[in-house]
Amino acid sequence: MTAAPLNGWIYHGARGFEGHLREEIGQWSSRWGELYHGGAAETPAFWNQNIWLSPFRLSFDSISEASQALRGIQRNWCLTNTAHFRRAALIQSRLPPLASASKARVFPWFAPRAPMGSWTLLDPHTIVASARCTSPFPGGAVSFAEDKTGPPSRAYLKLWEALSRCRRCPLNGERCLDAGASPGGWTWALARLGADVTAVDRAPLADRVTAMPRVRWLKHDAFTLKPRDIGALQWLFCDAACYPPRLYTWIEAWRASGLCENFVCTIKMQGKPDMETARRFASIAESAVVHLFYNKHELTWIKVPPQEEAPRRGGAR
Ligand SMILES: C[S@@+](CC[C@H](N)C(=O)[O-])C[C@H]1O[C@@H](n2cnc3c(N)ncnc32)[C@H](O)[C@@H]1O
Repeated sequence: MTAAPLNGWIYHGARGFEGHLREEIGQWSSRWGELYHGGAAETPAFWNQNIWLSPFRLSFDSISEASQALRGIQRNWCLTNTAHFRRAALIQSRLPPLASASKARVFPWFAPRAPMGSWTLLDPHTIVASARCTSPFPGGAVSFAEDKTGPPSRAYLKLWEALSRCRRCPLNGERCLDAGASPGGWTWALARLGADVTAVDRAPLADRVTAMPRVRWLKHDAFTLKPRDIGALQWLFCDAACYPPRLYTWIEAWRASGLCENFVCTIKMQGKPDMETARRFASIAESAVVHLFYNKHELTWIKVPPQEEAPRRGGAR
């Protein structure tokens, strides 16, 4: 059995947006299904569901040899199937069990802290794997148990995913602004956590969301509201449909004001993605731009500094 490091990163393309990923990385030395090995360069990219940061190639003789080698590195390994599916499944069956990526999580549930590795089988005797990956979710995929009656839209799923990644949620009584809130999926999710939510949109919220305690609807253009009009907040959320530079300018005003600590904002793309603004967001200290598993043609900018671990429900696997 031999293991050899591979230069550069491996990108697991965001489903449906692989074309954007290919434009970002420019060129790749190998492609295995949805996986792109970018070659020696470590090119930052947003349109992915996972990046394998420390890839290596493992040549092995038997299935037990392969599983032992992975187990010897760490506990958690998720298979990304690209070839030889049956043999790959046999190796995975000899690794410690992972709750399947399709298992629906009940929110609040926070991403596990234990390293989540990824691997694939290239040929019957060769694995490519990485112990370190950017996503805390197996293969970059996560699923939440949906509420079909409470929220008026499914947008709350991407908010749950963002908060799960941060391993933090608004706490009871914390002040939140939800900009571009109609019809109210995010506001519903925040109010359920016990937060005080000011929901700004020219369009109304669903009546049942407006009726929730701690929810206030402000009929206004969010971007003409100045930070001092709203006052100090613990959390600013924005899912407004707008051009990314408009969002960036508004967020800059909030950051300059010092009136808010935590930010989760959707960067909505129209046509060709505005990568320049996405990179400007990503360059903000202690923040990241990601393509969430629940994102569509959009990215999410998250600036939520870590705090002490909050209580969580559910297992860590
Ligand atoms: C995708 S929807 C938001 C969905 C919402 N997050 C939910 O969970 O139901 C986008 C919203 O942005 C709002 N919007 C667009 N421009 C806005 C602006 N300048 N100020 C406030 N809201 C705006 C639209 O009216 C629309 O309701």
